[in-house]
Amino acid sequence: MKDLDVKGKRVFVRVDFNVPLSDGRVMDDSKILAALPTLRYLVEADARVIVASHLGRPKGKIVSSLRMDPVARRLSELLGQKVEKIDSVAGEEVEARVQQLTPGSILLLENVRFDPGEEENDPAFAASLARLADIFVNDAFGTVHRAHASNTGIAAYMPAVAGMLMEREMSYLNRSKENPARPLVAILGGRKVADKIGVIRHFLEQVDSLLLGGAMANTFLKAQGYSVGKSLYEEDKVEVAAELLQEALGKSAKIVLPEDVMVVEDLIAHAPFRVVKVSEIPAGWMAVDLGPNTVKRFEAIIQEAKMVLWNGPLGAYEFPPFNRSTEQIARALAEAEAETIVGGGDIMAALERIGLAHKMTHLSTGGGAVLDFWEGKPLPGLEAIDHDPNNRYSTDSSE
Ligand code: ADP
Ligand code: 3PG
Ligand code: MG
Repeated sequence: MKDLDVKGKRVFVRVDFNVPLSDGRVMDDSKILAALPTLRYLVEADARVIVASHLGRPKGKIVSSLRMDPVARRLSELLGQKVEKIDSVAGEEVEARVQQLTPGSILLLENVRFDPGEEENDPAFAASLARLADIFVNDAFGTVHRAHASNTGIAAYMPAVAGMLMEREMSYLNRSKENPARPLVAILGGRKVADKIGVIRHFLEQVDSLLLGGAMANTFLKAQGYSVGKSLYEEDKVEVAAELLQEALGKSAKIVLPEDVMVVEDLIAHAPFRVVKVSEIPAGWMAVDLGPNTVKRFEAIIQEAKMVLWNGPLGAYEFPPFNRSTEQIARALAEAEAETIVGGGDIMAALERIGLAHKMTHLSTGGGAVLDFWEGKPLPGLEAIDHDPNNRYSTDSSE
C-alpha cells in the first residue's frame, strides 16, 4: 500500500469489522483497533477513504440488527475523527457521496453482505463497487479465505494491494509455517471437529506436539474407546478421529489428549462439578473443561516449546469456572519463552477478558482464515491482490 501514491485518490479499503454486537453496541473492538494503522495512514496521506465490511451473515438481505451504524460510531471514537456512514453499499447515491469526499475523510459503507452479489462474487456487483474507487486495499485478513465481491471481485478493476494488518498477519503466519522455531506445539480446542479435521491432518506433518482440548477432544476420547457420558462430541466424526490417532502413530508429531476432565450434570455457570479421569466419566455427566493433571501436562510441553500456535478454547469458557484451563494455558503462554501465535474469535474474546491479549506474540484477527492458512488451502483474498508473479504474499496451495 505504501508504494502507491494515494493523495487525493479514492481508496476502497475492505476491512473485517465483523465484531460482536449487543444492544446496538460493539462488545469487542479488537478488529476495529487492528485496522486503525491502515486507515490512519490513508487519512494522513490525504486519500479519500471508502471503508467496507461485512457484519454477521445476513445472507443477501437487509437485516436491521446487522447495520454498520454501531461500528461507525466506535470507529469514529477510536480515530478521533468523524466517520460518515451511508445506508447503502453501492449505486448512484453512494457514487455521488463519494464524489463529495474531501481528502483525509472517511465514508463507511453499509454491510456488504446485504447485497446477494457479495457472497456470490457477482461480477456486476463487483463492478458497482469498483466504480467507487481508484485503488483497492484489502486489509480484511479475517475474510481472506472467502472469494467474495468486495475482497476478490473488485480487485480486478484497479491497482489492488494489501493493507498493513494483512501484511502483519501474513508475515507472522508465513514465518510460523515456513520457518517455525522448534519444538513447535499446536493447541486445538473448541467444538467443531468437522471444521478442524483438515488442519489436524496438516499439523500431524508439521508440529512436534498437538494438544487437543475442548469439546473436540471428547470426540477423540470416544474414538479411544472411553465412554464420555453426555459430553458434547461429534458422533459422525468418531471414525475419522480414530483414523487420525492411528495415523499419528507413524508420525513424529505426538497427539496429547486429556487425561482428566471437569464434569457436570448440566452446563450452567457455577454448576457443581467433579474432576475425574477420562476413563471414569459418569453416565449422565459431561466433560466441560480440562482437569488439573492435563493442564500440568500441557504446561510442561508449553514450557519446552519455542513456538506455540493456538486455536479454540479448551473448555466451555463462557460458563465460569469452566474457563479455568483456557485461562491457565493462556497464562502459561504469557509466561513462556516461546513465540505465541493465537487465532480465533472465541480465544480472542477469552484473552481480552482476562487481560492477556497483549502478552501474545501475535493475536490474529482471523478464525477460519487462520485454520485455512495452516491447512494450506488457497486464500482467494490474497490471490486477488498484488498482481505480481513474485509477490511475497503468495500462499502455497500445492499442499
Ligand atoms: P473457535 O471459535 O475458537 O474456532 P469453536 O467455535 O469451534 O471455537 O468452539 C468454541 C465453543 O466451544 C465455545 O462456545 C465453548 O463454550 C465450546 N466448548 C469448548 N469446550 C467445550 C466442552 N468441553 N463442552 C461444551 N462446549 C465446549
Ligand atoms: C470471521 O469472523 O471469522 C470473519 O469475519 C469471517 O466471517 P464469516 O465466517 O462469516 O465469513
Ligand atoms: Mg467460534
